[in-house]
Amino acid sequence: MNSLANKNILLGVTGGIAAYKSAEIVRALKKAGSSVRVVMTKSAEEFITPLTLQALSGNKVSSDLLDPETEAGMGHIELAKWADAILIAPTTANTLAKLASGRADDLLSSISLAFEGPLALAPAMNQAMWKDSRTKENIEKLKDNNFNIYGPGSGEQACGDIGLGRMLEPEEIMLNFSLLFEEGHLNNKNILITAGPTQEPIDPVRYITNRSSGKMGYCLAEASLESGANVTLVSGPVNIEAPEGAHLVKVQTAEEMYESVMHHIKNTDIFISSAAVADYKPENFSKDKIKKSDKNSEISIGMTKNKDILKSVSEISNKPYLVGFAAETNDLINNAKLKLKNKKLDLIIANDVSGKDIGFDSEENEVTLINSDSEFFIEKESKKKVASKIIKYISEKLVS
Ligand SMILES: Cc1cc2nc3c(=O)[nH]c(=O)nc-3n(C[C@H](O)[C@H](O)[C@H](O)COP(=O)(O)O)c2cc1C
Repeated sequence: MNSLANKNILLGVTGGIAAYKSAEIVRALKKAGSSVRVVMTKSAEEFITPLTLQALSGNKVSSDLLDPETEAGMGHIELAKWADAILIAPTTANTLAKLASGRADDLLSSISLAFEGPLALAPAMNQAMWKDSRTKENIEKLKDNNFNIYGPGSGEQACGDIGLGRMLEPEEIMLNFSLLFEEGHLNNKNILITAGPTQEPIDPVRYITNRSSGKMGYCLAEASLESGANVTLVSGPVNIEAPEGAHLVKVQTAEEMYESVMHHIKNTDIFISSAAVADYKPENFSKDKIKKSDKNSEISIGMTKNKDILKSVSEISNKPYLVGFAAETNDLINNAKLKLKNKKLDLIIANDVSGKDIGFDSEENEVTLINSDSEFFIEKESKKKVASKIIKYISEKLVS
């Protein structure tokens, strides 16, 4: 069942140009089975009419704190008690500032202050307003107070500027928001995940490897377990603990990883290949340590191709839902699309590993999920949050 079904959702709408998209959010919430009440700021009414949101939500739209009629019906405290969660989309810079400082000078900010459940904001503003240090401080304060912040995204803005500040698309907001209520959506599914680097030995003391830390794969394993799945984690050498409850299989080389995956693939519903598997290995393994010699100023190591694990899994009959990663340093999306097609995957996760702050060996990641007919961007955030969103996305694709 959809996690938003039978939930009471209060949608706050503030005075930004993206307010027209809140109509779509009301529709999506209704479609997900939520009861929706909309509270608008006075400025928001300049951008979209209460009548539209009333017609879509099926409930009276409120905006006035000091309206005796509203207070006599469902006043600000009743609305705060009624809601299971509050989503404010769009959230203006002004409303962000008010919420960060705990002001309560209109209906929406009063309800937000009186509310004790999960509160989510989708900021939308001009890029200079978003960059301003005061907005940044407000966002940090709100995060410290457990507000969930979705976005903003970057791109061309209504004012013609380009940069961060655009409200996330309703679909992206809905995916984030529904995670607040998520529980056990992959109950009893069998998920096989590969993670970490592989080590390809040259001699007993040397090997060729890469910078993968395994964090993304381990976070995916954790998110899968939290979703109720049975998880087998085939991992190359890493320095992190496997999540409790995962069946951990430790391997060193690409060949061992291949053998282990082929061994465990039977009865697997979802295979996620997040390991950075070496494409090539040294042709010859020297059983003795290779010595430095005065005669040779150079040595060369011949390399031979490893088996392609993902491709091999894609060729088995009864193959599971197949998810690959494309870790690229250039032309990310095109390279990822090519891999999706060549390896006959259901989903590819395009991962830019050219910088230091995302991708390999970092705490955060930013990815684009690509399937045969759509792309879905997950903005930069902790690998744990990115992993939860990937797992949620996969579970939705499996049931749709
Ligand atoms: C055409 C127009 C578009 C605006 N768009 C935004 C916006 O996208 N984000 C924002 O923070 N403020 C925007 N503003 C400014 C807000 O409307 C203004 O700060 C207002 O006081 C916000 O009130 P509220 O937070 O109570 O809704 C815009 C103003 C105008 C006139």
